[in-house]
Amino acid sequence: MLQIAQVLLSKHVPSTTLHKLPAIILSGMEKKPHDPLKFAVIGCGRIGQRHIKHINSVGELSAIVDTDTNLLRMVAAGKNVEQFSSLQEFLFHAPEIDVVSICTPNSYHAAQSVACLQAGYHVVCEKPMALTLPDCHAMDLAAKAANKQLFIIKQNRYNVPVQHVKKMIDEGFLGRILSVQVNCFWNRDEQYYANSWKGSLDVDGGTLFTQFSHFIDLMLWLAGDIIEVQAFMENLHHKKLIEFEDTGVAIFKFANGALGGLHYTVNAYNKNMEGSITVMGEKGTIKVGGEYLNELEYQVLEDDQENLVSLGNKPIHFGSYQGNMSNHLLAYQNVVDVLNGDASITTSVSEAIKTIEVINKIYASAKYHYGRTDIS
Ligand SMILES: NC(=O)c1ccc[n+]([C@@H]2O[C@H](COP(=O)([O-])OP(=O)(O)OC[C@H]3O[C@@H](n4cnc5c(N)ncnc54)[C@H](O)[C@@H]3O)[C@@H](O)[C@H]2O)c1
Repeated sequence: MLQIAQVLLSKHVPSTTLHKLPAIILSGMEKKPHDPLKFAVIGCGRIGQRHIKHINSVGELSAIVDTDTNLLRMVAAGKNVEQFSSLQEFLFHAPEIDVVSICTPNSYHAAQSVACLQAGYHVVCEKPMALTLPDCHAMDLAAKAANKQLFIIKQNRYNVPVQHVKKMIDEGFLGRILSVQVNCFWNRDEQYYANSWKGSLDVDGGTLFTQFSHFIDLMLWLAGDIIEVQAFMENLHHKKLIEFEDTGVAIFKFANGALGGLHYTVNAYNKNMEGSITVMGEKGTIKVGGEYLNELEYQVLEDDQENLVSLGNKPIHFGSYQGNMSNHLLAYQNVVDVLNGDASITTSVSEAIKTIEVINKIYASAKYHYGRTDIS
């Protein structure tokens, strides 16, 4: 318990070296496949409530934790759940739970995940995995040491058009990837940042962590590893609201020789305008866009004349997606399938670490990185 408390109290968990993940360890096999898994949710805010909603479709919500006791009571109303006002209290009482879902603000993810893994729970951690690489590696090591699974939420991999682009690339329809462009044109106003941890350097970490980490993950998933980054960033329109940039541009060189670009901003006028990834391949060009990677905007492929005719140039809508909160149910289905030994994990810890690595490289490359430390 003392060890756990020390980790919880320290701002950063110790730096460690990166290890490649071994083949997925299917722990949790002690349960019979059809026993419902028991879950706890730490942090019952906006996204925590989304987790709570989905957990009961795949398992059993048994406990909730939040330091805001009014919110805790409100969320618990009508549910048969244990309530705890801190993670320390939860760990002290050690309820019989299989999986703990961490839905607290960004800077708490690492220490809370490590503490829960050390206490013998599997962990589902919201994005971003952590704000620094040493923290990511500590989480990875804690999972391996405890022989427990660590899932990082990357629900946008399940977006139908994103899955389509991935399939086209993996099946060779685009040929060699030549270049990639990622555009993130969103609006975040005064009201969004008011009375919130969002916008603080220490807890939020930056626009790439809170708003756009999914896009970095998808860029890496689709186009492969990045070996070089150059970036500029500025706070152009949120000077009194947030402690870091509201806009950035970055250019990338990928390990496979492709080039890439990213333009991200929360200054889109009045509303979110676009969240898109365009891939130029030697045998095709494809763009998944819309407001949040929810439309296949165009696709022209050398080997797919039939598809080309049926798609035309019109955007294809794949259902309505509400911001970045869609598809958590599919992420939870994967958690249950992995723990029951029926599937492999959709986002490995090493992939999640790569996202944080690239975000930190972008921040490190910018001349003005708002006093960030621990970036390399
Ligand atoms: N996957 C996605 O698309 C997605 C979308 C939104 C948010 N998120 C992530 O989810 C996390 C939470 O974001 P949010 O928008 O729900 O924030 P939020 O502020 O609405 O909720 C956070 C909750 O955590 C509680 N909390 C704070 N410190 C705590 C502690 N030490 N112990 C227990 N509870 C504590 C707060 O009281 C609050 O209720 C963030 O990391 C964010 O980046 C992910």
